[in-house]
Amino acid sequence: MMEENDSTTQWSAPVDFSERVDTLAFDIMGDLSFGKSFDIKEPGENPLKEVPHCIAEYMQFYYPMCRSPLLNLLVWLKPRGLDRLFEMATPPPVDRYTHFVHSSVTDRIALQKTQASKPEPEQRLDMFYFLAEARDPDTAAVAYEEDELRAESSLLIIDGSDTTAISLSGIFFYLTGDPGRYEKLVTEIRTTFESAEDIVHGPGLLGCDYLRACIDEGMRLTPAGPSELPREVLPGGIQIKWEHYPAGTIVGTVPWAMSRSPEMYGDAEMFKPERWIVNESTRVTKEMVATMRAGFHPFLSGTYSCLGKNLATAEMLITVARTLHRLDLRRAQGSTLGGGSPELGWGATDPKTASVRGCLHITAKRTRGAVQEEGLRSLGARDTLTLVLIRHHCAGKEHGLFTLFAGTELR
Ligand code: HEM
Repeated sequence: MMEENDSTTQWSAPVDFSERVDTLAFDIMGDLSFGKSFDIKEPGENPLKEVPHCIAEYMQFYYPMCRSPLLNLLVWLKPRGLDRLFEMATPPPVDRYTHFVHSSVTDRIALQKTQASKPEPEQRLDMFYFLAEARDPDTAAVAYEEDELRAESSLLIIDGSDTTAISLSGIFFYLTGDPGRYEKLVTEIRTTFESAEDIVHGPGLLGCDYLRACIDEGMRLTPAGPSELPREVLPGGIQIKWEHYPAGTIVGTVPWAMSRSPEMYGDAEMFKPERWIVNESTRVTKEMVATMRAGFHPFLSGTYSCLGKNLATAEMLITVARTLHRLDLRRAQGSTLGGGSPELGWGATDPKTASVRGCLHITAKRTRGAVQEEGLRSLGARDTLTLVLIRHHCAGKEHGLFTLFAGTELR
């Protein structure tokens, strides 16, 4: 975006910002998972630019099947003739996504083999590396066969890119719809960091309370997985509040509804990052924040919650902070895109609510600081997102193999 508009005074032509964050999150995920960016965020032709859209189609195709009461029957029928039917019924974008994952993993497996003879510091230690190298703690056998590696890789791409992009879109949607709060955040970022190059994961960034609150508030109002994420009650049943649920019952809470609970948040529909910050003058107490936090789980909680929580949080903190340090943003004049509208149908008509199906039109101009940074960059400063990947101490096959933390370097 900086390259598209050189000016510090003229606003750029409107850009579809949702598309931009989609491509950014996808490239970061490619880099971290497969050791190479797919560069779809870069200008110019690239056939992979359609992949994030294919992911959406993939989800729409498989989601109803996965939630169908006939799922077990479908799984049973798959090798008994249903596969053929599936092939015929699969929409072309879904096929293209499957093909993309297949060829990416094939390339990465080849790299794994060629780099095996090199010393570890020279190898690409991306997420795939840890999956491929994982061993069963009891038998020391390879933890993942090739088809499992392929399935895990597909899961990583979907879980890691789409979710982050939706969250970022929501955060920027609400920020650009509220000039006062936008300015407050910009002031925090530009007074904490002298240049965007200084914005790296660390105490400075983690000390930006308002930034963190904006991210939480954006994620509250735009849950990346808005519907309930089902869990099956185990033998013995479970007591939830006043009800007993027997084994086998599917239970779940709906993040969209939880986020909008008036009992919990009061003015729940309002974008109000201040609600997350203890402050006498705004009458937000420690107890109020603790109660809200106890019910706020954008990454879910417990077993099978998000493995990429820390990584995603670091990614969002850095992306929002660097963008607002380098660029002034505002909604395209007169544009109502990004929010709900009557055409989107029931449940998505409110223009003040971010729509996961819409696009967000934003215009941008460079900040003066960004122009000075150009000089810095020519002196060799680089944009890097430094992240850590720590191998999980127990290679539990059921739950993926690694836990992600921000802080250590991933090559
Ligand atoms: C803002 C961004 C993100 C959000 C809101 C988010 C949210 C979630 C949620 C709610 C789940 C639970 C899904 C379920 O129970 O069905 C989940 C699972 C998962 N997420 Fe994320 N996620 C984000 C980013 C990432 C990233 C960047 C990665 C990359 C490493 C990632 C990897 C995973 C994986 C591997 C799982 C499956 C865990 C399992 O089944 O054991 N997520 N995520």
